[in-house]
Amino acid sequence: MTATATAAAPNGAPAKEAPFHVEKVLWVKHWTDRLFSFGITRPASLRFRSGEFVMIGLPPREALGEKKPILRAYSVASPHFAEELEFFSIKVPDGPLTSRLQLIQPGDEILLGKKPTGTLVLDAVRPGKRLFLFGTGTGLAPWLSVARDPDAYSRFERVIVAHGVREVKELAYRDLFTHDIFDDPLVGDEARAQLTYYPTVTREPFERQGRFTDLIESGKLFKDLGLDQTTFDPENDRAMLCGSMAMIKDTAALLEAHGLKEGSNADPGDFVIERAFVG
Ligand code: A2P
Repeated sequence: MTATATAAAPNGAPAKEAPFHVEKVLWVKHWTDRLFSFGITRPASLRFRSGEFVMIGLPPREALGEKKPILRAYSVASPHFAEELEFFSIKVPDGPLTSRLQLIQPGDEILLGKKPTGTLVLDAVRPGKRLFLFGTGTGLAPWLSVARDPDAYSRFERVIVAHGVREVKELAYRDLFTHDIFDDPLVGDEARAQLTYYPTVTREPFERQGRFTDLIESGKLFKDLGLDQTTFDPENDRAMLCGSMAMIKDTAALLEAHGLKEGSNADPGDFVIERAFVG
């Protein structure tokens, strides 16, 4: 459902196209007091590639004197062909957008940017055997899109979704990656054969603990995956990073130290990065 994307032109001037689609909230799921997901209607004209982000916002509250909407960039968590758009968000009590966004209900209006973009896309990485998707916190969002896209499995023999969080309860979408994705009509069979979910928790006991950087440096990551290598192999390994700045910086440095080169849409490489958005 898309509201007319034209602003009133009282003087008969050509109607100006509005910068945003106005969409409707379809569902909201609260994972914890800090994390939630929501789905919205998708405008027929919106095109995006799995892994891209788009601006999301709420209309200004005119009664409070607000003139402009508050907008933030969000990775689309659904694959490019999905009928609705899904997002995975943090809740920041004082966050200008998320303090309000966390209160949305089905039927509410959401502003959606018209130009999805981003580098966490399959086109920005060179061909390889394994695709490592490293996400901390809500940095899992783009992998929800990429890992539900059949292209990921046709381009790579193996796809590894690594989710790093502080506490076990922050492992949102664990059911998706441990069960539900295997029943997906489009990627179920491929996921069963080619997808590995690799959750890790840093601040309480869990079946796997430690930061990505430590798991990489100790070689545990590769051992856990049953790989016959102790670190990244620049010939065959590709990676995408999303999440905290510190994690991206340190993990990217490790990738570079092992000969992997950062890529972009214009110049595909061995790994690509993007920080997760907060606030
Ligand atoms: P840790 O608990 O040891 O700080 P945050 O909630 O701060 O965004 O962190 C999400 C996850 O990312 C946590 O598990 C955190 O581990 C981890 N993390 C934070 N900084 C780094 C880093 N520089 N390298 C790897 N992992 C990191």
